[in-house]
Amino acid sequence: MNITTDFLVIGSGIAGLSYALKVADSGQVAVVTKREMSETATNLAQGGIASVLSSEDSFAAHVRDTMVAGAYLSDEDVVRMVVQRGPQAIADLINWGVRFSKKDDNTYDLTREGGHSRRRILHAKDMTGQEIERALVEAVKSHPNITVYEHHIAIDLITDAKAGTVKVKPNRCLGAHVLDITESKVHTLGARVTVLATGGAGKVYLYTCNPDVATGDGIAMAYRAGATVADMEFMQFHPTTLYHPRAKSFLISESVRGEGAILRRKDGTAFMEQYHELRDLAPRDITARAIDNEMKIHGDESVFLDITHRDPDYVRNRFPHIYETCLKYGIDITVEPIPVVPAAHYICGGVKVDRWGESDLVNLFAIGEVAFTGLHGANRLASNSLLEGVVFADLVAQRSLARIKEKHHPIPRIQPWDYGKATDSDEEVVVAHNWDEIRRCMWNYVGIVRTSKRLKRALRRIQMIKDEITEYYWDFYPTSDLIELRNIATVAELIVRCARMRRESRGLHYNLDYPERDDANWKKDTLIRKKL
Ligand code: SIN
Repeated sequence: MNITTDFLVIGSGIAGLSYALKVADSGQVAVVTKREMSETATNLAQGGIASVLSSEDSFAAHVRDTMVAGAYLSDEDVVRMVVQRGPQAIADLINWGVRFSKKDDNTYDLTREGGHSRRRILHAKDMTGQEIERALVEAVKSHPNITVYEHHIAIDLITDAKAGTVKVKPNRCLGAHVLDITESKVHTLGARVTVLATGGAGKVYLYTCNPDVATGDGIAMAYRAGATVADMEFMQFHPTTLYHPRAKSFLISESVRGEGAILRRKDGTAFMEQYHELRDLAPRDITARAIDNEMKIHGDESVFLDITHRDPDYVRNRFPHIYETCLKYGIDITVEPIPVVPAAHYICGGVKVDRWGESDLVNLFAIGEVAFTGLHGANRLASNSLLEGVVFADLVAQRSLARIKEKHHPIPRIQPWDYGKATDSDEEVVVAHNWDEIRRCMWNYVGIVRTSKRLKRALRRIQMIKDEITEYYWDFYPTSDLIELRNIATVAELIVRCARMRRESRGLHYNLDYPERDDANWKKDTLIRKKL
């Protein structure tokens, strides 16, 4: 099937849906999403969305906190722009129907998280993302110009260079080939503007609090299509996910520490004081490394997060989701500390975009975790990501609305997907094995603490797996497992290559062979672009 639309949005979290709502009055929007619309990382976000809303806060303080957390690698102009646009982004969300938690006096309840010097995080109890996703999904469903393709996964972007039909310079993005997972058919989706809003890549690691959809699809597709990718070495490990054999790295929000929880060793000793003056509210890279260190020194399988000193009614009411989930695993957080370990959480790098969210492939935009805007630097400040998603959705909307009014080369006729001699795969076991091998290799060799030798070893292994997948991939009909496997292999390779380039330790990238920050040589981004 051949479909053409004005705006193609790949992904249905906060970034993709905000963008769709911003452009829908001006054209036809197709939203492609791999599972059901709300199965996104946004939906799992607990903590909240940061913005300067209190008279005790200031834009300057939010900018400073972001720069400090990001180990001064963030682009300060971008940081300032995002921070200053924060209150408008919050107003947009409220207009779309998001209900943030309020205090008894009807003002918004602002919480704190690691690295924030002020209370500036809006939340909906401990289910902020779920509330945002609910409101956006409802608004999108009721807009007549938005068509949502659930259970459809993008395979690859279509570009002028790839289509080979017209010699347009610079290379443009023309849409994407998309697999209808239920029907096992590949459709061609042509679009004037293509927006990647595919989220992150936590599934590249064995332990992650990301949902299953976080396989780095947008980053991998953009890289394959020739767009520049930046700063992939900065994978953020969330310090506190529940340590329990059945819990699949369930997130324990940083706002629990924001409301006073203390990290302790097995013997009850609080340890964060030894690592940072902000103690339990230190930036995330420092806290995750501290926990990793404590576990290694003491040979413990986890550390413990203790909020038992707070009033039990307060804890149950403020963190109902965390309370109920822990209770399901036999832990009553009002009377006992929570066993926690770090897990992969957020990729700070991604598809390099300009101030308007456009990549270096014309008409290809990226918003949210898939994008590298320059906001996060070497370590994202907690709760800045939802904010970035809404702010850049607005900027991309402005730019793409202007773009579709410009004179343009028509979209050429795009060839349908070439199935070649593909057959149905009867070797699912190969796919499953490769998935596991990549994720284990990344966890063991490219984790919180790295060495040059381990990175080299990881690159060798991942490249071997990648070669195997390329062979395998073209022999069989595409399935979503295979498409995702190909993407995690690409993203894993990009992470390792960026990590090998950066010969220093900064923020989330800590290499024992280069333990110091080296501003003279490395206060710059790592950039990778595929030669086409
Ligand atoms: C959390 O609730 O701890 C996650 C917030 C974030 O990653 O921004």
